[in-house]
Amino acid sequence: MRQSRNALVALAASASAASLSSVCTTSWVKSILPTNGTLLGIDLVPSAVTASVYNASSSSSSSSAGGMSTASYNYCNVTVTYTHTGKGDTVVVKYAFPDPSDFKNRFYVAGGGGFSLSSDATGGLEYGAVGGATDAGYDAFDYSYDEVVLYGNGSINWDATYMFGYQALGEMTILGKALTRGFYSKADDAKVYTYYEGCSDGGREGMSQVQRYGEEYDGAITGAPAFRFAQQQVHHVFSSAVEQTLDYYPPPCELDKIVNATIAACDPLDGRTDGVVSRTDLCKLNFDLKTIIGEPYYCAEQNYTSLGFGFSKRQAEGSTTSYQPAQNGTVSAEGVAVAEAIYNGLHNSANQRAYLSWQIASELSDAATTYNSDTDSWELSIPSTGGEYVTKFVQLLDLDNLSDLDGVTYDTLVDWMRTGMIRYMDSLQTTLPDLTPFQASGGKLLHYHGESDPSIPSGSSVHYWQAVRSIMYGNLTASESLSALSDWYQFYLIPGAAHCGTNSLQPGPYPENNMQIMIDWVENGVKPSRLNATVSSGDYEGETQMLCQWPQRPLWKNGSSSFVCVNDEKSIDSWTYSFPAFELPVY
Ligand SMILES: *[C@@H]1O[C@H](CO)[C@@H](O)[C@H](O)[C@H]1NC(C)=O
Ligand SMILES: *[C@@H]1O[C@H](CO)[C@@H](O)[C@H](O)[C@H]1NC(C)=O
Ligand SMILES: *[C@@H]1O[C@H](CO)[C@@H](O)[C@H](O)[C@H]1NC(C)=O
Ligand SMILES: *[C@@H]1O[C@H](CO)[C@@H](O)[C@H](O)[C@H]1NC(C)=O
Ligand SMILES: *[C@@H]1O[C@H](CO)[C@@H](O)[C@H](O)[C@H]1NC(C)=O
Ligand SMILES: *[C@@H]1O[C@H](CO)[C@@H](O)[C@H](O)[C@H]1NC(C)=O
Ligand SMILES: *[C@@H]1O[C@H](CO)[C@@H](O)[C@H](O)[C@H]1NC(C)=O
Ligand SMILES: *[C@@H]1O[C@H](CO)[C@@H](O)[C@H](O)[C@H]1NC(C)=O
Ligand SMILES: *[C@@H]1O[C@H](CO)[C@@H](O)[C@H](O)[C@H]1NC(C)=O
Ligand SMILES: *[C@@H]1O[C@H](CO)[C@@H](O)[C@H](O)[C@H]1NC(C)=O
Ligand SMILES: *[C@@H]1O[C@H](CO)[C@@H](O)[C@H](O)[C@H]1NC(C)=O
Repeated sequence: MRQSRNALVALAASASAASLSSVCTTSWVKSILPTNGTLLGIDLVPSAVTASVYNASSSSSSSSAGGMSTASYNYCNVTVTYTHTGKGDTVVVKYAFPDPSDFKNRFYVAGGGGFSLSSDATGGLEYGAVGGATDAGYDAFDYSYDEVVLYGNGSINWDATYMFGYQALGEMTILGKALTRGFYSKADDAKVYTYYEGCSDGGREGMSQVQRYGEEYDGAITGAPAFRFAQQQVHHVFSSAVEQTLDYYPPPCELDKIVNATIAACDPLDGRTDGVVSRTDLCKLNFDLKTIIGEPYYCAEQNYTSLGFGFSKRQAEGSTTSYQPAQNGTVSAEGVAVAEAIYNGLHNSANQRAYLSWQIASELSDAATTYNSDTDSWELSIPSTGGEYVTKFVQLLDLDNLSDLDGVTYDTLVDWMRTGMIRYMDSLQTTLPDLTPFQASGGKLLHYHGESDPSIPSGSSVHYWQAVRSIMYGNLTASESLSALSDWYQFYLIPGAAHCGTNSLQPGPYPENNMQIMIDWVENGVKPSRLNATVSSGDYEGETQMLCQWPQRPLWKNGSSSFVCVNDEKSIDSWTYSFPAFELPVY
């Protein structure tokens, strides 16, 4: 049966406020598909369309990925299939359309994490937004990208690489906005406010959209982006390389003690003793790790779960669990030397800087050694987050991890970074610093990073912000460029926070209503100047902290109950790096 489009439009329009089921039909969705040639390079396959009402009330509590917060929304569950013109591939996209009476002219894209794009399309429902997710043409709902990056040894799957890198989300958004207008019978040029939100690789994915599909997005919220991909992934091997180079494999408890003692020593430097190092820059400038030598440490036996890609110690991709016996000792000079070298960052053998590192007082998760019960000693444990990147993306061998670091020096790490950066410069690196199309079309970018992130260094985000500022506003005075940038791109460090979440070692603030802030900025012109965050544990639980916008830094003066945001050149300088170990500029 085929109704005319006009009849369907009339049906949809008359029923719009009343019922979701009237528009949630395959015939309606087929009728709104953009015709081949409309979206350049995207040919839709009408026969593959599915559409069905998802009734929240009638569903049992299906605990599939991320559906929790949206459990109470009815929506139209649509899947659409397209092929790239002339290519013969198949890309499946799914969309969640809110009830017409809930729709607020919004489209929402959620980021994934690790090597996965988000597979959940329902994240926008709470904002009255249509949401989407894509299988990226490599069955991304079932496989993560690292599982398909190689066809075989030496043979890169470039289609999957570009799709994961940025293309799949960009196409999902372009198509999704067209379908959104059609679904709710809006004009072809009707405004659909389009938002992106994600952290970690989800932050990188967001930056990829801002960089490559800037005109499509009105607001992007990007946390702790896993961008500068080659440097970031090889950096996950750096801690192990330090231990091997210094030939000291610290018991994990010794490093934990070093971190705890650093936090205790540096906590007051920001003017308030609250368990949080809100100024890691002052810690870096004023605290000598060597003062910890000789302090006793003790840890009870435990089954330790490594960070992997690092989401608040949940068992994340790339993480493993291993037995640790009780550890009782005193912090050694060797242990401190390892911590110092790790926080200092990678340099080549000519002592030229190659990369930045985690801020002092961050956990040293990648440095965790494993216990060998046969020899009763601690041994190198290469995090597979970095090891797999080297084997698959640099060496092009279909292996999940490096087996050892034999013959590997700091120069080797620099070479790995250089190879990865050049090979994936236009796919995964994700550091294009010219955001003019996004800025010129009115886009707003809210970028944040936990200052004590032990997985992706917060300095990585600072460096990108600095690159954008100098590339786009290099001809302006310092204050002019700051103000021009902050009109549309704002960056916030979150004191004490870990990787995309709070930190069990530092009970600090975390933002909880970023989307509300972004919607207000985009739709109501309310530009933020500070970022609303809430302390979620500890003595100050419940306290609101309006975080300072970078490059301003917090300081509690005279034990007052709130901090001021100060300009501190020395502190900013401590966050400013160049990377002379590379011939090419590293943005
Ligand atoms: C658009 O192209 C796809 C793929 O070639 C094809 O399956 C589909 O039938 C085309 N649609 C129309 C309306 O011709
Ligand atoms: C959802 O609810 C609507 C209206 O109550 C009903 O017509 C429809 O059959 C339900 N769909 C499913 C899949 O339960
Ligand atoms: C949405 O529809 C697809 C295709 O029919 C189906 O595989 C999927 O399970 C549905 N999702 C939900 C949440 O109902
Ligand atoms: C470090 O501090 C945390 C949180 O206070 C505590 O659980 C842990 O036992 C401490 N570790 C060491 C080695 O002191
Ligand atoms: C560690 O795990 C093993 C095996 O599951 C278990 O027998 C042991 O009790 C655990 N030890 C601790 C300290 O949790
Ligand atoms: C750690 O070792 C010291 C010195 O050997 C000892 O006095 C102390 O009781 C030990 N602590 C624990 C908790 O076993
Ligand atoms: C990676 O390989 C190293 C060396 O074989 C091993 O120590 C480490 O546990 C592995 N890491 C993971 C996460 O499998
Ligand atoms: C790929 O290379 C690795 C390392 O040399 C080897 O172990 C593996 O067998 C190779 N795979 C195939 C399919 O040849
Ligand atoms: C700086 O360059 C931009 C872009 O080329 C231009 O629009 C702007 O007017 C310049 N500003 C100054 C102060 O020269
Ligand atoms: C700050 O966030 C909290 C938690 O979401 C919220 O209750 C509060 O209203 C927000 N305040 C502002 C000023 O946005
Ligand atoms: C500290 O407080 C005193 C008295 O209230 C005030 O005069 C002084 O300026 C304050 N100092 C700073 C650094 O804020």
